[in-house]
Amino acid sequence: MIETSHLPVPDTVHGPGTTLHVARAGRGPITLLLHGYPLDHRMWLDTLHGPLAAQRTLLAPDLRGHGRSPWAGAAVHTMAQFAADAVAVLRTCAEGPVDVVGLSMGGYVAFALWAMAPELVRSLVLVDTKAAADDATARAGRDAAAAAVVDSGRAALATGMAAKLLAPRPTGDAAGQLLRARLASMVEAQSVETIVADLRGLRDRPDRTAMLGSITVPTLVVVGEHDAITPVAGAKAMAAAIPGARCTVVPGAGHLVPMEQPEAFAQAVGAFFADQP
Ligand code: MLT
Repeated sequence: MIETSHLPVPDTVHGPGTTLHVARAGRGPITLLLHGYPLDHRMWLDTLHGPLAAQRTLLAPDLRGHGRSPWAGAAVHTMAQFAADAVAVLRTCAEGPVDVVGLSMGGYVAFALWAMAPELVRSLVLVDTKAAADDATARAGRDAAAAAVVDSGRAALATGMAAKLLAPRPTGDAAGQLLRARLASMVEAQSVETIVADLRGLRDRPDRTAMLGSITVPTLVVVGEHDAITPVAGAKAMAAAIPGARCTVVPGAGHLVPMEQPEAFAQAVGAFFADQP
């Protein structure tokens, strides 16, 4: 395995006009973990503390405005701005190209990173994400969601998201209850400024479908069997459009595979990493 050389990994990196908190675990070549909306590095806690840490040095930044990284005043969080943040993390912590793992919005950021600085990317893991832009209905839905957060607050958003993001579990299932509580506490912890800026950036993000054929690094697509936001058929079509990409469907998971089925996620990604030259 080729070792990506490391620079010292600080807890905080200077990004463009802001500071970015970076959680870190593991050893070996660097892997960048990009979180979804409206989450933060905590969605990767099972991954950071799981078997992938024996294969890779895992870096999970809080994108600007999320988790412990402050909101920096932008009314719109573009995917390109988040990718510029990721570049700042990589220029500070790595001396060569890295594995990039992005979930949903983190996948959109991974696409923006590939468009901006492909030389920093050694492989891609695209989790519960898609290349297509929002259509008119989805764009209107983003504006409605932003208005609802302003009117009704974050707790209502968190409840609605748990129903949409997570695969169904039996009533009274303790692990499912804990999962919903973890998700709710993360959503409710993000500022209203960040949630609204994210929604505008998601609404306006570019379509990356035409770029898929130009991805020349090894790529794994992972999708939850019950993912209602980026369903299996779309994930398989996306993998088919990326030269040589594989697609793994994870049973018993919805849109948050690394939190819902952490062992299966680590196994799929670990096997993919083990195949890297
Ligand atoms: C996410 O999980 O990051 C969001 O579902 C992305 C989206 O809504 O497009």
